[in-house]
Amino acid sequence: MKIFNSQVIESKKGCEILASEKKSNKAESNEKTVDKTVEKIFIGVDFGTSKIAMTTSNGKSILEQNVVGYPKDAISSKFLKKEVLYGEEALKHRVALNIHRPIECGVLKTNKEDIAAAKGLLEYCLETLNLPEGAESYAILGVPAKASVLSKKILTEITKDFFTGVMVASDPFCVAYQLGLLENVMIVDIGAGTTDLCRVRGTLPEPEDMTSFGKSGDYIDAALIKSITSDYTSAMVTKEMAKRWKEELGFVGKPSKNCEVDVPVDSSTIRLSIVQEMKDACESIIPPIVEGITSLIATYDPDFRDDLRNNIIVSGGGSKIHDIDEYIENELSIVGGGKVSVIKEDPFTAGSKGALKLAMDMPEDYWKKLI
Ligand SMILES: Nc1ncnc2c1ncn2[C@@H]1O[C@H](COP(=O)(O)OP(=O)(O)OP(=O)(O)O)[C@@H](O)[C@H]1O
Ligand SMILES: [Mg+2]
Repeated sequence: MKIFNSQVIESKKGCEILASEKKSNKAESNEKTVDKTVEKIFIGVDFGTSKIAMTTSNGKSILEQNVVGYPKDAISSKFLKKEVLYGEEALKHRVALNIHRPIECGVLKTNKEDIAAAKGLLEYCLETLNLPEGAESYAILGVPAKASVLSKKILTEITKDFFTGVMVASDPFCVAYQLGLLENVMIVDIGAGTTDLCRVRGTLPEPEDMTSFGKSGDYIDAALIKSITSDYTSAMVTKEMAKRWKEELGFVGKPSKNCEVDVPVDSSTIRLSIVQEMKDACESIIPPIVEGITSLIATYDPDFRDDLRNNIIVSGGGSKIHDIDEYIENELSIVGGGKVSVIKEDPFTAGSKGALKLAMDMPEDYWKKLI
């Protein structure tokens, strides 16, 4: 289904809320033409709190941790032989680095250091993708469903030097677009910094079709640390440990595993079962999800409410929490019922693939306005 037409685009809804363009000689001379001889590359970008994913129309992709590290001193710089490290490599050497995570709760931090880190990471990813020399690049960036106009503006500002044209789109809408599910579908995208809900009704989403809140992966990690350290006061649990345990053992509902982990205590470790702590932490994000789903259903066209409630898809890294679909479905049964499933595609790249698909489907006329 094509959901674009020039009126929709002109009316500044959904994915075209903000658009920016690279300053070029063409822009300065106000020439609104697209050179047909120049190769065009379309790029979908999901600049998430925990990961950055990029997918290009020439078949390349990258998925990297959204982390930048600078050596703490001259010794670490000499030992690491680099002035800056990105992604997984930065995490690996994090004890010797000052670590920056430029995105917090789905939003780019606005201080100078984090903006520089975000730009560096983008540049690093684009270099890795090795786009053809001289090609024009048109990118759509996925952003949280309720990202403020200001945060979208900052993101497009910092990215416009890298692309010929840039637009932003709601993350969960990009997921729906990738799945080709564009009518009476609800996407629940559980990321690291935000959980984004979006109902899709065959058009670009309006603000009232979306909701977003901060209870997601990072919140679970923090809840897990809090409950383990309050149960075992001398335990030392880092954020990285909690995240690792959650990714390995996270579940809601009935436990299927014992959830035993090695917890550092003083100078040694003890093996503990954290089954109750894990259950409580993972289940702590469910009430706002159920509340968000029910309110998006309650304000939908009554003729299509049943279609919507029976078409709920959980995506993002949080979709990997064991039994999350069944648990949400069970909770919904008390408030009118619903059918919930988890995304069948890779939850970490579905957003960037959807953004790419959107970029490629965007009418050429619209990109032309950006040049
Ligand atoms: N197997 C797993 N079980 C539970 N949680 C997981 C699993 N794998 C990844 N996660 C969590 O999913 C989150 C990352 O998901 P995702 O990559 O969708 O987030 P993001 O797009 O970077 O963040 P956001 O959308 O909030 O900006 C992290 O909190 C991570 O720990
Ligand atoms: Mg995300």
